[in-house]
Amino acid sequence: MTTSPASMSDPAALRQEILRLTREYSRQVHAPFRPAADHDRQPWQEGSTIPYAGRVFTEDEVEAAVASTLDFWLTLGKEGEAFQQELAAFLGVRHSLLVNSGSSANLIAISALTSPKLPDDRRIKLGDEVITVAAGFPTTVAPIVQVGAVPVFIDADPITGNVRCEQLEEAYRSGKTKAVMMAHALGNPFDLAATLAFCQKHNLWLVEDNCDALGCSYSMPKQLAESLGFSENSPGLDDGPDRVVRWTGTWGDISTQSFYPPHHLTMGEGGAVNIVRDQKLKVIAESFRDWGRDCWCPSGIDNTCNKRFDWQLGELPKGYDHKYTYSHLGFNLKPLDPQAAIGRVQLKRLPEFIEARKQNWEILREGLSAQENSLEFALPTHAKAWDSEQGFSWDETGCRTDCSWFGFKIAVKPGASFTRTELAQELDRNMIGNRMLFGGNLVRQPAFVQLKQDRPEAMRVVGKLVDSDQIMNNTLFLGTYPGLTQEMLQAEIDVINAFVSGQEDG
Ligand SMILES: Cc1ncc(COP(=O)(O)O)c(C=O)c1O
Repeated sequence: MTTSPASMSDPAALRQEILRLTREYSRQVHAPFRPAADHDRQPWQEGSTIPYAGRVFTEDEVEAAVASTLDFWLTLGKEGEAFQQELAAFLGVRHSLLVNSGSSANLIAISALTSPKLPDDRRIKLGDEVITVAAGFPTTVAPIVQVGAVPVFIDADPITGNVRCEQLEEAYRSGKTKAVMMAHALGNPFDLAATLAFCQKHNLWLVEDNCDALGCSYSMPKQLAESLGFSENSPGLDDGPDRVVRWTGTWGDISTQSFYPPHHLTMGEGGAVNIVRDQKLKVIAESFRDWGRDCWCPSGIDNTCNKRFDWQLGELPKGYDHKYTYSHLGFNLKPLDPQAAIGRVQLKRLPEFIEARKQNWEILREGLSAQENSLEFALPTHAKAWDSEQGFSWDETGCRTDCSWFGFKIAVKPGASFTRTELAQELDRNMIGNRMLFGGNLVRQPAFVQLKQDRPEAMRVVGKLVDSDQIMNNTLFLGTYPGLTQEMLQAEIDVINAFVSGQEDG
């Protein structure tokens, strides 16, 4: 195609042409990355790789990234501002702050709780304790150590992959425990009713690591919800007049997202800190994200407070520029505007992505149901059992979870005729993406072994963590991401069924 001289001299026409070509290019080269349900997606070739996760996008995301790159604002700007507002509106939280990763989001969330701007009895100080779970991802926990607090590890249930809430009280130390910070494992909400009741009883912060759980929800009877301070559903959710249903990430004080490609939506590298209710926490979290500054002007704007040269803070002279006044020992963890532009398009796809993950989990569960002798499948928190006719049956708490699964968790049962590693090797031989439940029992990771050796007082363990060990030894997960087609899922099912039956017969 040739560009006419007239359009070459008109920047608006030139931009339009660049974006048209960008879309055309993307349609040609990115066909394997389109959502599985998209007609133009390139079919999967039998015998080729089945990733456990990956970016799923069309020319819309690529156009948004290029358009924003042509603007060349580079740091966080109008796309970032819009994405923050759209994400907060989707979740129904007061604010969402974009950051450059889920790990950064966790670092900011816990740092915010150390701020001297918080009441003295609530503020996390050096040596204070934060209760967390031993089985999971390392950067749910590392930030606790990085701010000088002490992670207190409790065990996880090998079936749900989530915290054993019955250990919360045992972990608590009056005057020391200030917060609970833990993840909804693989898109399975942890027992929020029990955790919130515990936090309410002891006046503790709750940080939900929602990195693997965007689009998961938790519901409870209205009376129970009201006793915990909740009366409203999240936007777009409804579980009947007698119940309150909310997205995970909207029950605690702060929650975090990862937008790294395997997650529910992506902006490349990226993440968010969601401030559920408290405006003060937003100002503090933003300060930690943006160099620790006291000023809250967006980039490129001055004097939002109308007293830029009228403050007196710390031991600075009165009138010292508020823009260069630092009330926290902060970081700079902002992403770029072109990333936010990608995230905005992805957010529009989120409802479709949430559903695809649920359906893919169901397909795998159904397809592997003959293997229950050897394999233990995950159950959502509060579910007692699954069957193909009725779906899940629920426990007597009245609480329910609705999982948009990050992964399909499988544990190899103790009496099985093969090991988890043998199953993983068989999946690898067949190019089927599989992962361990991240760090397994984190306490056994070299970084934490070293920490304990260097500074035994830097962490505390409740009980023996036998179930976290079990997760470490017996568990893996397959993908559920929205790029998996029916053929790919069926191929996974066939390989696992053949392997398990072969092992049992042999
Ligand atoms: C539970 C959990 N928290 C935090 C993170 C860190 O996110 P990121 O990779 O964006 O730093 C991950 C990463 O997958 C995660 O699974």
